[in-house]
Amino acid sequence: MAEADDTVSKDYRADVPARNEPFFLKGSNHLDWGLKNRLANIFDARSGRTVMLAFDHGYFLGPTSGLERVDLQIVPLIEHADTLMLTRGILRTSIPPTYTGGIVLRASGGPSILKELSDEEIAISIDEAVRLNVAAMAVQVFVGGEHETRSIHNLTRLADLGNRHGIATLGVTAVGKELVRDAKYMRLASRICAELGATYVKTYYVEDGFETVTASCPVPIVIAGGKKLPEAEALQLAHDAVQQGAAGVDMGRNIFQSANPAAMIQAVRKVVHEDFKPREAYELYQTLEKEGAER
Ligand code: 5RP
Repeated sequence: MAEADDTVSKDYRADVPARNEPFFLKGSNHLDWGLKNRLANIFDARSGRTVMLAFDHGYFLGPTSGLERVDLQIVPLIEHADTLMLTRGILRTSIPPTYTGGIVLRASGGPSILKELSDEEIAISIDEAVRLNVAAMAVQVFVGGEHETRSIHNLTRLADLGNRHGIATLGVTAVGKELVRDAKYMRLASRICAELGATYVKTYYVEDGFETVTASCPVPIVIAGGKKLPEAEALQLAHDAVQQGAAGVDMGRNIFQSANPAAMIQAVRKVVHEDFKPREAYELYQTLEKEGAER
């Protein structure tokens, strides 16, 4: 039997109200503890933002340039990422289980680059996602695409399954060749993802009116990097996006196809987490490159 606890005086601090702090992420205050804890493993609570290193491209492109050897080209970079966005195949085969950042798992797929890309289905079971200890599942949503309804249904089913297990859902707005990439479209697609259950949304930065995309989306938005740009331009893009309300980047090719990926991801971090100006970040990139940051 435990000894009676009567020798040390107690301090109930009855005059101090219980702490009741809002969660740091937009739209996430009413989520359950497990889901918030996973989101805190994707987003850094100090800045409220994330650097997601995206290298799931192989799920429809095969061995993309810069991803031919994930063990050699990506694993040296993961210490600089808040979160990894990848497929289960690459996670199991190539990422050390000692990695403690968030895992955002590609959860939809089907057609390769050789076919109609919008024709995706859910590509994982919830048991498998739980087994892999993922923080979020990412699903492609083709608003305005030929298979729009199916892709929305993929999102809503994953959100139902994810909510049951405290796993976040990332709605990925995918823009087909026939659709215009402007603020009007991004507002529509992002808002639909949020309305239908996405915990956060990935979209593209647009030059004119991106702040209206982030303002009208009730959950956090991260931006994809898109096609490889010169490093200075990619840093400018990341800067403009976060300054206009993005909660970070989900960046792939502009990091792993950079002349020096390790220098680039460190420069991107400064823009995202420390509000570096693009020029300052590019100078850092150049310095790290000169110093021979591990590639
Ligand atoms: C590929 C993706 C990528 O994760 C996303 O587009 C980010 O990568 P990048 O910065 O190269 O555009 O969803 O299907």
